[in-house]
Amino acid sequence: MTSSPVITIDGPGGSGKGTISRILAQKLGWHFLDSGSLYRLTGLAARYHAIALDNEPALETLAAHLDVQFETDEQLQGRIILEGEDVSDLLRGEECGNDASRVAVLPGVRRALLERQRAFLRPPGLVADGRDMGTVVFPGAQLKIFLTASPEERANRRYKQLKDKGLNVNLDNLLKEITERDVRDSTRSFAPMRPAPDAVVVDTTGMGVDAVVERIMELWREASGA
Ligand code: DC
Repeated sequence: MTSSPVITIDGPGGSGKGTISRILAQKLGWHFLDSGSLYRLTGLAARYHAIALDNEPALETLAAHLDVQFETDEQLQGRIILEGEDVSDLLRGEECGNDASRVAVLPGVRRALLERQRAFLRPPGLVADGRDMGTVVFPGAQLKIFLTASPEERANRRYKQLKDKGLNVNLDNLLKEITERDVRDSTRSFAPMRPAPDAVVVDTTGMGVDAVVERIMELWREASGA
């Protein structure tokens, strides 16, 4: 068992987890786990292999054997290669997000991805972004953050993000999808999205990225006694 530190950043889609976690990992010089990408990859691989999104045994096998490479650059923004194909942009689309949320309700899939996620923990430390990082995957993390923001603000942020990438999106649909996904992610019986009892809840509504990063760095300095 390694003793490298972990900061977990959990919360709903659009809460700013991805952006904040990457910046934190860069500032600290640590590794970064985008656990949502593993669920997205499982959903996408299921499409490639024509596996239904409720076929749990087949999806569990698929998740356990994903042929994926993470090619990380200095901004920790690297490309994701699935079965030899660069799927980085495709993976961020709403369709992949919704498929991910559907396969993520299956205990078999979550089990298959557990060790894969834990393998990201290497010295000097890890920032882990997801829904159950603090509750299930890294329950011993030194600092657990649960990021939230109002559904409207999250829909707006996603809208801007996707527009910037040149993707065609509709704000009302995004808000509807975000709300539906929140319900599915937080009401599933296995590893539902919720703050760990020892997590610090940070509501980012109306807060800029820098302010959120500074708040978490402050919490980390307190937690680590630095
Ligand atoms: O963070 P994201 O939008 O990339 O996640 C996509 C979906 O994957 C999300 O709706 C729920 C699921 N997920 C999960 O269940 N557990 C995680 N640790 C990360 C993501």
